[in-house]
Amino acid sequence: MSFQSIPKVELHLHLEGAAPPKFIAGLAREKNIDISKIFDEKGNYAYQGFAEFLNTYEAACQPLKTPQDFYRLTLAVLEETAKHGVVYAETFVSPDFCGGGDVTLWREYLAAMQEAANEAERDFGITLRGIITAIRHFGPEQAKTAAKCAAETYGDFVVGFGMAGAEMEGRPTDFAYSFDMAREAGLPLTCHAGEWGGPDMVADTIRDLGVNRIGHGINAIQDPKLLSEIAEKGVVLEVCPGSNVVLGAVKDWASHPIQKLRDAGVAVTVSTDDPPFFHTTMTYEFEMLAKTFGWDEKDFAEVNQTALKAAYCDEATRAKIAKLLEPAQ
Ligand code: ADE
Ligand code: ZN
Repeated sequence: MSFQSIPKVELHLHLEGAAPPKFIAGLAREKNIDISKIFDEKGNYAYQGFAEFLNTYEAACQPLKTPQDFYRLTLAVLEETAKHGVVYAETFVSPDFCGGGDVTLWREYLAAMQEAANEAERDFGITLRGIITAIRHFGPEQAKTAAKCAAETYGDFVVGFGMAGAEMEGRPTDFAYSFDMAREAGLPLTCHAGEWGGPDMVADTIRDLGVNRIGHGINAIQDPKLLSEIAEKGVVLEVCPGSNVVLGAVKDWASHPIQKLRDAGVAVTVSTDDPPFFHTTMTYEFEMLAKTFGWDEKDFAEVNQTALKAAYCDEATRAKIAKLLEPAQ
């Protein structure tokens, strides 16, 4: 079995976090921005631990200034992602990095990303949709501007609303206004939780923000009652094992709870999060899941189907992707 050639659905991919370091370094050079300190001697992103990761991530966003930059970024990311068999991806993209939360400016960035996504669909056979994302450590007031951008541009490319960033800042209820606004506009909702926070953070996120997907969610494993509740409600976890290993959310691949979550009946999907930051790809994730937990074609088909069912796209797109996932005759 070639892990690379298996068609894949990826639900949890940060657009800026997927930026190849070479691309960011090149853009920084073009604009005379000195961000050399975020790269190691091999040109990879350099950081240690989650807090520094977030700082490096934000520094890497500095050269991304114009809609044209985001057009180029989207194409570069999709070319790379498609190489690993991904046929459908949802990407987190934040208005905070695209006009600072101003809706008029946001529309220009969005149009640029959409244009790149259309070209990538034609040229690389990958379909992309966007989840508009608030950054938690920018605070609840700024989150409202992201929610407004999401509400104003829902439909077509924009399919969901979510939140990433420093999970331990504030409680989910602090962001309820933003999630309510997005929900009222019709957007489905996801939020990072249980990557660093405990089961209480996952439970509060589901209860207070009304999400039907959770980014990571792995620490739910510590509470069997919560696990049953998640399984029963059909809340889907966007699990990113390689990210968890590199950032130290789990000790190593062998101690990652992904298989235990599945055994508990939880709907589990697999994604890369921020692939170049974690030296991962969807191919590598699948390879490591096979090596560590003995996953085979059946397991990969199951996570793909779970992801496709949980995708926020419209039904025509879902049907089109379903065809691409069918085994070759
Ligand atoms: N933003 C990008 N990657 C993230 C992660 N793993 N956790 C929280 N916020 C993020
Ligand atoms: Zn993430």
